Amino acid sequence: MEEAKKLNITKSLELFEEAKTLVPGGVLGARKPGDFIMGEYPIFLEYGKGCRLTDVDGNEYIDFLCGYGPIILGYREEEVDDAVIKQIKDKGFCFSLTQPYQNELAKKLNQLIPSAELSIFLKTGSDATTAAIRIARAYTGKIKVMRCGYHGWHDWCVEMKGGIPEKFYEDVHEFHYNDLGKLEELMAKHGKETAAIIMTPFGHPLHQKMQTPKPGFLEGVRELANKYGAVLVYDEVRTCFRLRMGGTQELYGVTPDLTVLGKGMANGYAISVVTGKEDVMMAAASKLFISSTFFPNSDGYIAALKTIEIMEREKVIEKIWEKGERFIKKIQALIDKYDIGAELSGVAPMFFVTFSDSDPAMLKGKRTDFYTQMIRKGFFFTPHHHAYISYRHTEEDLSQALKAIDESMAYVSEKYKK
Ligand SMILES: Cc1ncc(COP(=O)(O)O)c(C=O)c1O
Repeated sequence: MEEAKKLNITKSLELFEEAKTLVPGGVLGARKPGDFIMGEYPIFLEYGKGCRLTDVDGNEYIDFLCGYGPIILGYREEEVDDAVIKQIKDKGFCFSLTQPYQNELAKKLNQLIPSAELSIFLKTGSDATTAAIRIARAYTGKIKVMRCGYHGWHDWCVEMKGGIPEKFYEDVHEFHYNDLGKLEELMAKHGKETAAIIMTPFGHPLHQKMQTPKPGFLEGVRELANKYGAVLVYDEVRTCFRLRMGGTQELYGVTPDLTVLGKGMANGYAISVVTGKEDVMMAAASKLFISSTFFPNSDGYIAALKTIEIMEREKVIEKIWEKGERFIKKIQALIDKYDIGAELSGVAPMFFVTFSDSDPAMLKGKRTDFYTQMIRKGFFFTPHHHAYISYRHTEEDLSQALKAIDESMAYVSEKYKK
């Protein structure tokens, strides 16, 4: 199999050189070239439509990263954008007081999400996970937190600890997805002081294979929270409006006390939520100050209401599961065909192709070569983050992606046989 031709990303690289003189590191966080493959992926995008992206050099990609999660329908989804533009033009969206869409959206969440009774609306996932922890601490009067998964960039949970005094995270203890034994151990030691157990109810640990719950895992965590009087918080920032409208809690039938959501809810507009049981949430109203100039802006509410309307009307999640199931089954068949150490994890709407090899250099080599071939062929997957399928991916887009996966695996297989 011939090696795919390297992309021309000259303009991206030039802009990045300039960016480094203007922004520390050029671009922030998970947008850094090092989070993809240096010299192979574009760094700046120009526009997107549906499931397609075009970078500043004019290269077009069929995209499977979906803005790191919020794009559930597609880029520039006209009905959503039109609703927001109409709101901005006809009524305005930034005022000193709240517009009534807050109530409408809260009522909708109550219909959809098993744990929803009262909701607070914020802007980012990190805002919302941090607010949930503060609410849990205020409600229980306790301080410790057990955590599982990525919960954002704030002091209590960010992985890179630079610039954060230890006292801000010394009461936060980590357990891994599906490791109930570790959580039992932690709770036996710290349970009496534990305010919250916060977890992604679907396993998507950073850079690693995805995990579905082992039988009894989610139920076991729920029981531990009950036993010690800790607030169970589900971080459904990625999974709500992706796996089910009501999130993983609808899919697996275990209900937390608080739920955090964001990303897919508004097809790219900034809005996040902490929603949960009335008794717990009332701590937020009576004891806490949670406020920001931009939290009540109605662009996010309008986008969320319209996105949810489209998703219900067009049965978006069912359709993503249907085409996604067919797609990942065929990916698995390709993995079986080429014995290159590739592994598929996750479920149809969010899945990940990772690599394993007893030799770390071989593992890195195969992974880099596979994803390099894919991006060169115009398919935006990434080696360090799982993929998403959006509503606007057509069967034709997916069959083109399968052809590229087939060829890229054939290339890796030939290269590493030598
Ligand atoms: C599960 C989860 N929680 C929280 C966050 C933080 O959200 P944000 O990046 O909007 O602050 C993310 C972001 O990727 C996430 O995936």
